[in-house]
Amino acid sequence: MELKVLMVCLGNICRSPLAEGIFTEKAMHSSIQFQVDSAGTGNWHSGEPPDSRSIAIAKKHGIDISLQHARQIKPIDLTTFDLIFTMDKSVHNDVLDLAGGEEEKKKVFLLLEYAHQSASSEVPDPYWGKEAEFESTFQLLESACSAILARLTKSIG
Ligand code: 4NP
Repeated sequence: MELKVLMVCLGNICRSPLAEGIFTEKAMHSSIQFQVDSAGTGNWHSGEPPDSRSIAIAKKHGIDISLQHARQIKPIDLTTFDLIFTMDKSVHNDVLDLAGGEEEKKKVFLLLEYAHQSASSEVPDPYWGKEAEFESTFQLLESACSAILARLTKSIG
């Protein structure tokens, strides 16, 4: 079986491309087969590669995300994907608005909440920030992706 995972942020150029890259890299060592993608709730950057600062921080950690292209999430994604991870509450609510019913809503989780099974918290948007924020974003996403893989492996792997 293959598990389809979608990472979602606002622009699909900073956070979710990193999450896609990190999760894809970690999933290579998993007993579960994954298909990983990312999308944004907004369409301003559709077709563009990730933000150069996200590309650089991923590269520093040995992950190439430069070939990704931004796309906007669409309602069919909630049908196609098994698990949809959102970066913050605003994105989360916008994704829930696209759901066709309760079954689709059940697939949508705040990434950090699912990862750490704790009170909801958000991956801050580094877009308007400095370089250092991209490193902290990377670290936050890396530990979250590890925790998600561990959780999934324990339940279905
Ligand atoms: P992301 O960051 O949601 O992590 O990709 C953003 C990128 C672009 C914009 C906002 C957030 N924007 O307003 O263009």
